[in-house]
Amino acid sequence: MIVKFVPGGEASRRKPARRDKPEMTLDRALSRAGAASRTEAARLIAAGRVRVDGRVVRDAQAWVAPARQRIALDGRPLRRPQPLYLALHKPAGVITSHGDPAGRRTIYDLIGERASWYFPVGRLDLDTRGLLLVTNDSVFADRVASPTGKVEKTYRVVVKPPLDDAALERLRAGLDIGRGERSGPARARRAGAAVEITIREGKNRQVRRMIEALGHEVVDLLRIRVGKLRLGDLAEGRSRSFRPGDVI
Ligand code: URA
Repeated sequence: MIVKFVPGGEASRRKPARRDKPEMTLDRALSRAGAASRTEAARLIAAGRVRVDGRVVRDAQAWVAPARQRIALDGRPLRRPQPLYLALHKPAGVITSHGDPAGRRTIYDLIGERASWYFPVGRLDLDTRGLLLVTNDSVFADRVASPTGKVEKTYRVVVKPPLDDAALERLRAGLDIGRGERSGPARARRAGAAVEITIREGKNRQVRRMIEALGHEVVDLLRIRVGKLRLGDLAEGRSRSFRPGDVI
């Protein structure tokens, strides 16, 4: 059944509009609150043990807004998860998604299972290293990752062969990066043997595609800054907490 979403009202099968964020499916809400795994949550929901604003909801995929709705398991309100913000120095060869059928290491192997319901803000490719923000605050994540948010990201790129001045100018101006997409204006400057590129967008594999569009090869890609937050001396594989105001 498709039920119209009523902000602050009943659970809905329809994904709500962005203004209703933060919202998530009911099974995820239970998991984020630490009440159960997603699988266990689906079982509890189907068994009629979960109420949203006083009504039993048996659909694990119903969309809810935990910040504004009362969700209770066996009559006990879900605990509101504490907002958590982690800056991780992601090594190359680690994926940013949950679990991997190929058995590769994921960021959750690094930040620990206690953070299993936290999610990365945007993503870094398998082979990209550097600063990755992880949080359970979807409003913050949207502000940072949104293409309209214009939060700057800086990458240090080792390129083969090195870029000449004309190539740097093309990066600054924006260029055709294939699949019908163009990169927007960027800052680009030499930094020793590498190039530092600052962009405000987050198109898929954007920096690699910008370099490849110039006919060059990326040897190493390291993200060193997101908004105001720098990777600094954070060791590879380690994480530390930050406050939203450190970024935006
Ligand atoms: N640009 C890329 O090409 N890869 C990343 O992981 C991030 C930005």
